[in-house]
Amino acid sequence: MHTRPLLALSLVAACGGSRASVNTWALAGKAAPVTGAHAMVVSGHPLASAVGAQILQEGGNAFDAAVAVGFALEAVLPEAGNIGGGGFLVYRDSAGGTGALDYRETAPAAATHDMYLDSAGNPTERSITGHLSAGVPGSVAGLYEAWKAHGHLPWARLLAPAITLADGHVLDDQRRRSIEGERQRLALFPASASQFLVNGHAPAAGSTFRQPDLARTLRLIADSGPDVFYRGQIADLIVAEMKRGRGLITKADLAGYRAKWRTPIQIDYRGYRIYSMPPASSGGVTMAEIFNILGGYDSLPPFGSARYVHLEAEAMRRAFIDRNQWLGDPDFVKMPLERLLSAAYAAQLRAQILPDRATPTPAFVAKVTESSQTTHYSVVDAAGTAVSVTTTLNNGFGSAVTVTGGGFLLNDEMDDFATAPGKPNMYGLVQGEQNAVAPGRRMLSAMTPSVVLDPAGKLFLVVGTPGGPTIITSVYQVIANVVDQHMTLAAAVEAPRIHQQALPDVVFYERNGLSQPVLDSLRAMGYTMQERHGYSGDISAIERTPNGWVGVPDPRYGGGAAGY
Ligand code: DON
Repeated sequence: MHTRPLLALSLVAACGGSRASVNTWALAGKAAPVTGAHAMVVSGHPLASAVGAQILQEGGNAFDAAVAVGFALEAVLPEAGNIGGGGFLVYRDSAGGTGALDYRETAPAAATHDMYLDSAGNPTERSITGHLSAGVPGSVAGLYEAWKAHGHLPWARLLAPAITLADGHVLDDQRRRSIEGERQRLALFPASASQFLVNGHAPAAGSTFRQPDLARTLRLIADSGPDVFYRGQIADLIVAEMKRGRGLITKADLAGYRAKWRTPIQIDYRGYRIYSMPPASSGGVTMAEIFNILGGYDSLPPFGSARYVHLEAEAMRRAFIDRNQWLGDPDFVKMPLERLLSAAYAAQLRAQILPDRATPTPAFVAKVTESSQTTHYSVVDAAGTAVSVTTTLNNGFGSAVTVTGGGFLLNDEMDDFATAPGKPNMYGLVQGEQNAVAPGRRMLSAMTPSVVLDPAGKLFLVVGTPGGPTIITSVYQVIANVVDQHMTLAAAVEAPRIHQQALPDVVFYERNGLSQPVLDSLRAMGYTMQERHGYSGDISAIERTPNGWVGVPDPRYGGGAAGY
């Protein structure tokens, strides 16, 4: 893999500084920015964004809109959004206050270190499909906590649009395709089959999609708040579902669930300030390491060049090595965050980057899933408060288990633990004991909801994405494209992305995202370059411009933006 050094040098000399030819890039010019003079919502589904914009126009603030969007996504984006899952919220209010809310799922009390291993010690599918893969859901507690601390409109008002959508809405073709793509897993569980399938297939696009059990659940939450979900009727339905499939979640697990306020990770990069999610997500720390390493270069090579991909990939590799070794649930493990986030440490890592060679990480073969079934939404209200939320069931349709009578899917977030420390998980991530399964523990996430201030300290960007580990590198690249490459947000979002996560020791790139000479050059430098199947991430972002707020849904899969 690491032969041909002379060729490497000559190719780097020939191609390293030149701009890549990316005119075959399929998404060039495809982003469709939407401008709003006062306020903006960008989410994974146009109907959910419209709900958020409506709430803002009624005088709701960004938190109200975020809560309403969160519940609306449950009805219109069943593969990801998610009262049976969890998420993270980062905000910056109009007075400059910041905060981060962690409503990540937790392992049930009966969870054990080796619960997902077979008798030979290998990981099984039990952490991905079925009742055992579900962590204790955090979304209802989290959205309620966000509203209680910062909301303005009545709670029930924020659920009303989701109830209407659950009563019935027109199914779009993208949903039809995502349901069809998971029909075999959904068919394993009768409540999922009856909610999502018609004769074993997705309902037709254009048909009215009705979810009466979900509508009833949402009505109960609108009337009674989170208590009904964590202690009342819905808790009973979840526990009955667990009994049906030998899952572990108990009434005590549900009653004991708490969303937690945490302090955002603060990243200072070339005069800009970024607030992002701290552990139990790895997003903020890992992205901070990438920025801190790259911030030490006076200038960076042009976008699309081999030299630039090289520096980015080496920064990503080093940040992911630390992520996988050190990070976990802050309530359970000690992490050297001060050191990992320090400029001195970044300088040390930067000094290890060779000018023209890849630094290998131990190789192994790992499957990296291509599903894109988490979801992000960004909100800015008329006062300039920004709320950035990434939320997930983990992979598409989570565990595939719908709570019978409850009408919502349960997550399969338990697979985000290192179910077999030292062996790759669904995303090919190799992690250690810091993130092993333990009762009550939060599984380490990559979700990176972020807010960026410009050098004058004004709100500038709100950004986030789904994509497993590619979340971190996608959010980093969009911010870097704007800050370093001086792209508009639309250009920054549609631009081709790369991904390196230490192991597997591969640089992933999107189809036609790098020119052939650049690929040749990187291979000669010792990189294993691998084209992804599908895209990397699905950004929902907002930028402040002189003309107002510009909302940009990613043209990769696309949600929708709505502003006024
Ligand atoms: O929390 C995490 O990092 C993962 N559960 C996110 C999964 C995800 O983004 C799936 N979409 N590709």
